[in-house]
Amino acid sequence: MSTTTTATTPSTASTTSRLAEIARSLADRPEEWIHRVRLSADGRWYERLHRDGDHEVWLISWLPGQATGFHDHGESSGAFAVALGSLEEHQVGQARTMQTGESWAFDRDYVHDVRNSSAAPAVSVHVYSPPLSTMNRYRLSGDGLVVLTVEQEEDW
Ligand SMILES: [Fe+2]
Repeated sequence: MSTTTTATTPSTASTTSRLAEIARSLADRPEEWIHRVRLSADGRWYERLHRDGDHEVWLISWLPGQATGFHDHGESSGAFAVALGSLEEHQVGQARTMQTGESWAFDRDYVHDVRNSSAAPAVSVHVYSPPLSTMNRYRLSGDGLVVLTVEQEEDW
């Protein structure tokens, strides 16, 4: 069983629903990606599985304690699905735990911090449309989010 939750405006709901479906569908087919998965103590491991003019798909593994830090996705909308294990998704002031089979979709300008706070490795599938071209990384301070760095496509 899988569930999807979205953080969207009505005008982009069809886009984010489609991205969530791509992520969830692939997460449900581990035979297509399980042989690619690596685990790295140096940081999250990731590999791009697909890219075309419309969207791109990334596979990410997370050891316990690994996290993205707060970031956005530039002009891209996105979705991700937990394929193995569980992840926490944090927005400023709120957090949710996502189990295997659950997905989350978001519009452009969405900021979150995704963490593996569990005691076991996790794997997730991420979809972005259009493909990511820039990401801002943030530090959470008492006054809110402060931009730390701006990453361009060539950085990842
Ligand atoms: Fe993200």
